Amino acid sequence: MAETLTITDNRTGRQYEVPIQDGTIKATDLRQIKVAPDEFGLMTYDPAFMNTANCKSRITYIDGDKGVLLYRGYPIEQLAEQSDFLETASLILSGELPLQKQHDDWTRQVTLHTMLHTNIAKLMEGFRHDAHPMGMFISTVGALSTFYPDAKEIFSPESRRLQTIRLIAKLPSIAAYAFRHSIGRPFNQPDNDLTYAGNFLSMLFRMTELKYQPNPVLERAMEVLFILHADHEQNCSTTTMRTIGSSHADPYSALAGAAAALYGPLHGGANEAVLRMLHEIGSINHIPAFIKRVKAGEGRLMGFGHRVYKSYDPRAKIIKKMADLVFDATGKNPLLEMALELERIALEDEYFVSRKLYPNVDFYSGLIYQAMGFPVDMFPVLFAIPRTAGWIAQWEEMLNDPDQKIARPRQIYLGSGPRNYVPREKRK
Ligand code: CMC
Repeated sequence: MAETLTITDNRTGRQYEVPIQDGTIKATDLRQIKVAPDEFGLMTYDPAFMNTANCKSRITYIDGDKGVLLYRGYPIEQLAEQSDFLETASLILSGELPLQKQHDDWTRQVTLHTMLHTNIAKLMEGFRHDAHPMGMFISTVGALSTFYPDAKEIFSPESRRLQTIRLIAKLPSIAAYAFRHSIGRPFNQPDNDLTYAGNFLSMLFRMTELKYQPNPVLERAMEVLFILHADHEQNCSTTTMRTIGSSHADPYSALAGAAAALYGPLHGGANEAVLRMLHEIGSINHIPAFIKRVKAGEGRLMGFGHRVYKSYDPRAKIIKKMADLVFDATGKNPLLEMALELERIALEDEYFVSRKLYPNVDFYSGLIYQAMGFPVDMFPVLFAIPRTAGWIAQWEEMLNDPDQKIARPRQIYLGSGPRNYVPREKRK
């Protein structure tokens, strides 16, 4: 028997049967509940989508209570251990782990598209010397739509495939250009002999040497960090990608919007905010006073808490383990001890325990990035590069979903009723 929910309207005494499917009722099924025939019908009020499924998806699964994260069914721990970013991106985008030939072809295609048009480099040179790399990144990704007008053919699978390759290939180059601009160094061209992560490190850090040899520990750490950040279902930036994409804008414009959503300190900007917070705290002795301020509502413990995870973020666990390997290669980040002590105190404190606030992916990632030589303002950019795989996969899923339409929420209007315009000289 089909599952239904019976709703009794106490105003009219009428009963309504609303079907339950996949543990969900359709908000539009509530529209039949009205007192007067010309009424719009009952709406749901859900600011920040706290309890609203915006789509059906087959990409990423999270069990927030158990701390489980799966990409297309594969546990994040196994992918972080055994996969590399390009393979994981291919999995997220296509739904299956690629066969060897598919993997070779995908890797080759991405490698062939890493170069940027010289006018993109010129565009980026125009930014102020102290421009935030994420601001440069967002603007340049948006500008890509003017270089590839064929991207408007969003219903052509071939066009989507080409834009996907371009985006996965070119975003590390844009990120590296932004970094080099901010430190006043010439841009490094991509090196096609290197891996995805190795080439990225080369574009960032190569100085005068003819051939850059990435440190294998840091190269692997970069791959793992990219895998951990590749998708995270319907978060703020992915919802933005889907929302902009729902108006049939091209993927570059939609992705620039998604990256802008990621920039904020409550989302992908949190790793930057964690480092700034640790610097502000300054020493282990100041931690109790800092925790006291957080509990009094004067600021947040950045890198803690999550809308979905109500236990330890599985990505944070992997990053914490990896930090030891990175610090063996780079030397310890002096802020690590402070982070560990903050975590220890917070995990024992009633305020954090009762609200189920645990370290999230951003709590330790910044310490690793800093040890690898990245300035804090590059951190959100490092998040945006791998999340591109998730954004594109979610955008394509939205375009191919017959249930989807242009995103257009309703509102509860609480403003003034109709009133007559008053000329300026008569206003009181
Ligand atoms: N420090 C102190 N208190 C917190 C924190 C925190 N980091 N996060 C949540 N709370 C408190 C909050 O004040 C509220 O308390 P009360 O019930 O007394 O009002 C309660 O916990 C619930 O918080 P909320 O704001 O309703 O939770 P949310 O689901 O809307 O917010 C969040 C989720 C991630 C925005 C939030 O936990 C936060 O601001 N964390 C710090 C920023 C951060 O680390 N963001 C990265 C998220 S992971 C990467 C990503 O996916 O983007």
